[in-house]
Amino acid sequence: MGRDVFYITTPIYYPNDVPHIGHAYNAVATDFIARFHRLRGEEVFHLTGTDEHGLKIQRAAKEQGMTAQEWVDAMEPRWREVWARLDIAYDDYIRTTEPRHTAAVQELLEAVHDNGKDDIYLGTYEGLYCVSCEAYYTEDELIDGLCPIHERPVERMVEENYFFRLSAYGDRLLEHYEAHPEAIEPETRRNEVLSTIRSGLQDFSISRTTFDWGIPLPWDPKHVCYVWFDALTNYITAAGYADAPERFARMWPANIHSIGKDILRQHAIYWPAMLMAGNVEPPTQVWAHGFLTVGGKKMSKTNATGVHPFELLDVFGVDSYRYYFMREIQFGQDGSFSYEAMVERHNADLANGLGNLTSRVLAMLGSHFDGVVPEFSVAGAESDLPSVTAEAAARYQTHMQGVELSPALTATWEIVARANHYLVEKEPWKIKDGSRRDELASILYASAETLRILAVLIFPIMPRAASVLWSQLGMREPIEDQRLPHAAEWGGLAPGTTTAKGESLFPRLETE
Ligand code: MSP
Repeated sequence: MGRDVFYITTPIYYPNDVPHIGHAYNAVATDFIARFHRLRGEEVFHLTGTDEHGLKIQRAAKEQGMTAQEWVDAMEPRWREVWARLDIAYDDYIRTTEPRHTAAVQELLEAVHDNGKDDIYLGTYEGLYCVSCEAYYTEDELIDGLCPIHERPVERMVEENYFFRLSAYGDRLLEHYEAHPEAIEPETRRNEVLSTIRSGLQDFSISRTTFDWGIPLPWDPKHVCYVWFDALTNYITAAGYADAPERFARMWPANIHSIGKDILRQHAIYWPAMLMAGNVEPPTQVWAHGFLTVGGKKMSKTNATGVHPFELLDVFGVDSYRYYFMREIQFGQDGSFSYEAMVERHNADLANGLGNLTSRVLAMLGSHFDGVVPEFSVAGAESDLPSVTAEAAARYQTHMQGVELSPALTATWEIVARANHYLVEKEPWKIKDGSRRDELASILYASAETLRILAVLIFPIMPRAASVLWSQLGMREPIEDQRLPHAAEWGGLAPGTTTAKGESLFPRLETE
């Protein structure tokens, strides 16, 4: 297990690319998981960043007449601005061009080089290289002679490289994955990795001499480190591998590397083997989610026609955006983005569901009780709301622990549905008779208390809407300080609290 800290990472993104909703899917899912663990009171460390070395970057810079450093400095902020608008609460942002990272990569390289097993050796490499992937392919991996990911021509490259003896790590990797079945999720991905390992692993080159935009090998600085060896190491850089041993001992191994399925081989084969060779423990879990398509078509990594998150954020707002992707797609499977489906989710689950529930309850509290939460006094008036809420909240937490993101939200929206239905059954808006005022008070108490619990449960997926709801309910203690499971237990709303019906949480969107 991760030591004292729940340590979760996204991959680091290529600054050259235009951010699209596929990248954002990865970032939002990671943030959702991280925020849930924070709500449980765990110390969380959520890492993200940019992958700034390699030939692809050097070439792009040259085309622009810039140095590679100037180019990445200009590109990298385009990623942070997306994460800012998506409310991604990362704790550290690493750029592989930072000195702390150079130190860590060189230290890991030295550790592997000097491990006494000759795991790094000099050889000649000839192969077919896709610059966009920064990876070699064999003839039969190509589709019609093109890179299977980018559908672009590959280049034949010949160079003297240092190699990493991956072939010596097959058995150790298999032993590791047999002893830790949870180390790769979901199961289909685990099976894929196991069969790749069983079919035999080939050594891979870890240095380049044909360009210089990278980290020099400490023992032979004509060579720069291969960008994947460099990039993967970011996960230990940020944990303090080279400069903070005590912190590293608390942080490492990472609990979850949250990645897309296209970079599974690097994360579940190269990376643990590199760590084993450097005498560092492998990560606890690699979670490989599926790929997002648009109109059934693949958004390739470099596809500039991919949908930019801002296009949707401008229409839906951040909470609805985050909700849609996490609710609509089963984490682990591929999913297709559809604008119509997003509008539909927004209107059904948010505007009519949670939004309507909130405005009805707060409006009635306002008109009948001057917004002040009344006492609950009529036994039975709460019906099954407390039990339905408790049961669904428990399921939500179990699903989140198991990284079952969509089922966790489905469970939460069962509470929304039940609470809306409860109001329809009780028809509090029809209670005009003063003798039934206690009953009206009790119904509104139960409804408002359900809203309070919902605010806590939705905080990881919709931090903004949850905070607004929380303050509309008049809650004083910051929502950030709430802790599960306690905060989701019935009865936390104190009579006498002053609520205020404010802005509508989720205005309805027209289908046009
Ligand atoms: N720089 C490497 C990762 C190095 S990690 C040590 C890289 N970067 S990337 O920008 O191409 O991809 C970043 C993440 O976005 C990956 O997890 C990738 O799977 C994810 N996605 C990119 N396109 C995607 C979709 N269309 N759908 C879902 N996730 C997608 O790879």
